[in-house]
Amino acid sequence: MTARILVVDDDKAFRGMLVEALLEKGFEVETAGSAEEGIRLAGSGGFDLVLQDVMLPGMSGIDAIPLLKAADPLADIVVMTAFSSKDSAVEALKRGAYDYFTKPFSLTEMEVVIRRALERRRLQSQVQALRTSLEREGPLSRIIGQSRAMARVKEMVERVAGLDADVLITGESGTGKELIADTIHALSPRASGPFVKLNCAAIPENLLESELFGHEKGAFTGATATRRGRFELAQGGSILLDEIGDMPLHLQPKLLRAVEQKQVERVGGAKPVTFDVRIIAATNQDLRERVEGKQFRADLYYRLNVAAIHLPPLRERREDVAVLAAFFLESIGRRLGGEPLSLAPDAARVLQANDWPGNVRQLANTLERAAIFATAGALSAKDLAQALQRGPDQAAALPRPEPGQPLRQAVNAFEKGLIVQALQQAGGVQTEAAKLLGITAKNLWNKLQKHGLDPEVCLQSL
Ligand SMILES: Nc1ncnc2c1ncn2[C@@H]1O[C@H](COP(=O)(O)OP(=O)(O)OP(=O)(O)O)[C@@H](O)[C@H]1O
Ligand SMILES: [Mg+2]
Repeated sequence: MTARILVVDDDKAFRGMLVEALLEKGFEVETAGSAEEGIRLAGSGGFDLVLQDVMLPGMSGIDAIPLLKAADPLADIVVMTAFSSKDSAVEALKRGAYDYFTKPFSLTEMEVVIRRALERRRLQSQVQALRTSLEREGPLSRIIGQSRAMARVKEMVERVAGLDADVLITGESGTGKELIADTIHALSPRASGPFVKLNCAAIPENLLESELFGHEKGAFTGATATRRGRFELAQGGSILLDEIGDMPLHLQPKLLRAVEQKQVERVGGAKPVTFDVRIIAATNQDLRERVEGKQFRADLYYRLNVAAIHLPPLRERREDVAVLAAFFLESIGRRLGGEPLSLAPDAARVLQANDWPGNVRQLANTLERAAIFATAGALSAKDLAQALQRGPDQAAALPRPEPGQPLRQAVNAFEKGLIVQALQQAGGVQTEAAKLLGITAKNLWNKLQKHGLDPEVCLQSL
């Protein structure tokens, strides 16, 4: 977009020279011979910059500044003043001009000032656009969905976030529990504080206690230094206790104490440490069932379940599938460096009819895999069917060792099976498959040779 500049100067010759120079630089230019005319033109809006002379018949250029600002608030004003009257330049800046230059000036000098003003303006309007979209929607805009169920979830998120209450988020795997936790933190008064996440299922049981609560130096073999736990690290912010259903029973009383008293005792520590942290717990398990089965303490369950947010599975809010798909296709398309991918009508029907046991995550992954097969920027039902078949759930089963089978042979067969599975999950993309296996691409390539595997054939064998 070319910038529009308004030149206000009563000296016709000078004006002509300036206009010619500006046009040559590719700007759009309009002119006025007096301050009054300049203000009137500015009123029609749309200028990026006003070059305003000071000494004018009638109203002075300095007095015109506030009126120009009122007429076109977005335009920056640069004052052109005679060298002999530096004071008027200072006065101009005070009244709201962005910059000034003194006559006579070189065209290069003028261009630098103009470019600087335009650049500042461009950044300002960018930031403004970002700010308004954030103000309007805020972090809530990351939660996609138009079903009534999701509208209720968003309402709850907004309400709960401001209350600073502890929250329990439940829902099947892939329904968006972590996204909801992120949003609650971002909308809360603690947003500028840390957000610490801990997956209780991913940390070995014997390390979990010290991870959560910290330990003193020498508390156990290997505790060579005092270490703060996750609760302490989240000081002033929030903590996500993910997969809380997997919290070992023997740690639950200590966790309950921490949640209730906002105090922790480091392992091997004598005195409790107080913390100020909002606790968000999440699980895909039915905690009530676990309470009945005596795997989860009832008192902890009730304490966590004060503010509860439940995310329904995607199959119970099918209205959300289409918007979610559009959202993911847009970002996949952008990542692949082009237009958003589109859905053929038959593909939309496949998406709608599927049950999505892996919920939103499965939908996103399926679209990601299908994009590999898509031609001409559109996904067909066939692409989707292929991608769905290749879901991790349906990948080739791993071989079971036969009784008496030599170890080396069994290990080899198992390795081969794992590689085939990873290739299928990765839609045949070797670097992706290597990532899934936790090995380098080169290492994978060597193993493919060793087992005589062809990635393409692995896909077809489905
Ligand atoms: N309503 C939604 N709008 C946009 N993206 C979503 C939505 N729900 C889930 N997602 C996306 O789907 C993926 C899975 O979501 P998330 O990790 O929050 O699920 P989860 O419930 O924590 O799953 P798990 O129980 O397996 O940990 C993420 O990439 C998340 O951003
Ligand atoms: Mg999660």
